Amino acid sequence: MTENNNQHLTGLFGAPVSDRENTMTAGPRGPVVMQDIFFIEQMAHFDREVIPERRMHAKGSGAFGTFTVTHDITRYTSAKIFSEIGKQTEMFARFSTVAGERGAADAERDIRGFALKFYTEEGNWDLVGNNTPVFFFRDPKLFASLNHVVKRDPKTNMHNPQSNWDFWTSLPEALHQVTILMSDRGIPNGFRHMHGFGSHTYSMYNAQGQRVWVKFHFRTQQGIENLTDEEANRIISTDRESSQRDLFNAIEQGQFPKWKMFIQVMTEEQAKNHKDNPFDLTKVWFKDEYPLIPVGEFELNRNPENYFAEVEQAAFAPTNIIPGLDFSPDKMLQGRLFSYGDTQRYRLGVNHWQIPVNYPKAVANLCPFSRDGQMRVDGNLGAHTNYYPNSYGHHQSQPQFKKPALPLNGSVYEHDFREDDTNYYEQPGKLFNLLTTEEQHRLFINTANAMHGVNDEVKRRHIRNCYKADPAYGQGIATALNIDIATVDLEN
Ligand code: HEM
Repeated sequence: MTENNNQHLTGLFGAPVSDRENTMTAGPRGPVVMQDIFFIEQMAHFDREVIPERRMHAKGSGAFGTFTVTHDITRYTSAKIFSEIGKQTEMFARFSTVAGERGAADAERDIRGFALKFYTEEGNWDLVGNNTPVFFFRDPKLFASLNHVVKRDPKTNMHNPQSNWDFWTSLPEALHQVTILMSDRGIPNGFRHMHGFGSHTYSMYNAQGQRVWVKFHFRTQQGIENLTDEEANRIISTDRESSQRDLFNAIEQGQFPKWKMFIQVMTEEQAKNHKDNPFDLTKVWFKDEYPLIPVGEFELNRNPENYFAEVEQAAFAPTNIIPGLDFSPDKMLQGRLFSYGDTQRYRLGVNHWQIPVNYPKAVANLCPFSRDGQMRVDGNLGAHTNYYPNSYGHHQSQPQFKKPALPLNGSVYEHDFREDDTNYYEQPGKLFNLLTTEEQHRLFINTANAMHGVNDEVKRRHIRNCYKADPAYGQGIATALNIDIATVDLEN
């Protein structure tokens, strides 16, 4: 379709519209007639303008950019995006808050989504991460509950801190993520001033088929900046779009934000001897054991022309992976492999891969097998063979892209993570001790603010969890909540 710089209005099927303002009526004061086709078409389209919002991360901002390789990591991966220093790949990023709906204020205390789509010649690679290196839990069966507690209460339709904290404090493994969220980093001062993380353990394999486990890090070159609760409240009272405005204006003004990409690498041998489960999403790998290895950097340099077309309709999925990169046994990652495509087939339709922002535009010979379906808007591969096997050599497998085999053993069973690992408190304790006294103080106050309206039992449970991470953490939270720690059962 041509973009319309023509001043003359047409209907959707091209016929000229003769009157844009006056509805066709039977007589000057009579009723409207069905044959005012422009009116009917316009209303019917308007009635369908809203599509379902993302179930999580509904409020967000996006921008296009360029990824550049600065260091050679071909010893770890054969992915062509990393094939040579200086290589550039077009990309799209979307940043978001998690709990709020599409109209939520940007400066809320919340995790931020950090979703990247790289248009590589071997297919789109989506790295759908957050601004935190860990997550609230480590089994995807809990994910729907997380959604329910951070969204609205089924009866009051209001946010319910009691349910939220009841859930979090019942999961001791959540303390790490909760500590980050309640710390200064819980409200970044816009999307440009935060780091990003792939969070999960992924894998890479090289041209010889040797696999390593990998975590991805993106470090902001604008510097970390955060807001206090008071600053955020002041901003929200005058501007609900503060992060969108900051990102959009920076790019319009040519101040292109940049992030450097790093990886941490763990060999298969190291993984066998790693103290914790290397696939546990509630834990980080310490940098002194697994140093950050520089890879490249990306800059965001182009704002979308149309928000709905390019940001609302963007579909990121952890299943979008390319040769040289792969998944890991992380249960949470495995759970996500089902959810994203599934929700996008509902939210955008089965052919959402054809929407330009999602289309694998850098692939020279795109030849998918799937046909038909609602809103198929290309030529549907015309007369090209639509079955396999066939006599024409069409739809051949490409065995050179088989991934190295992953040896696994073990019984099929609902294995309980808690029988494997109850080391919930070491890492939140270490994080607490990295904070300055002022930062610890703000952590206490932010937590007390966020727990407003929560009952005593849940508050005491949180004090106990924090105490187990570090007695000073428990004491600080107890004081901020005005609870005498001597009255808290710190053992159970
Ligand atoms: C969005 C599910 C864990 C980051 C979403 C959406 C769903 C979802 C259904 C909406 C997608 C859409 O409509 O396009 C899940 C499930 C999880 C999980 C089932 C765990 C079992 C995570 C984790 C991270 C993450 C661990 C980060 C490390 C994101 C981001 C988005 C998102 C950044 C927004 C993507 C965008 O900008 O379009 N998630 N999620 N999610 N999720 Fe998750």
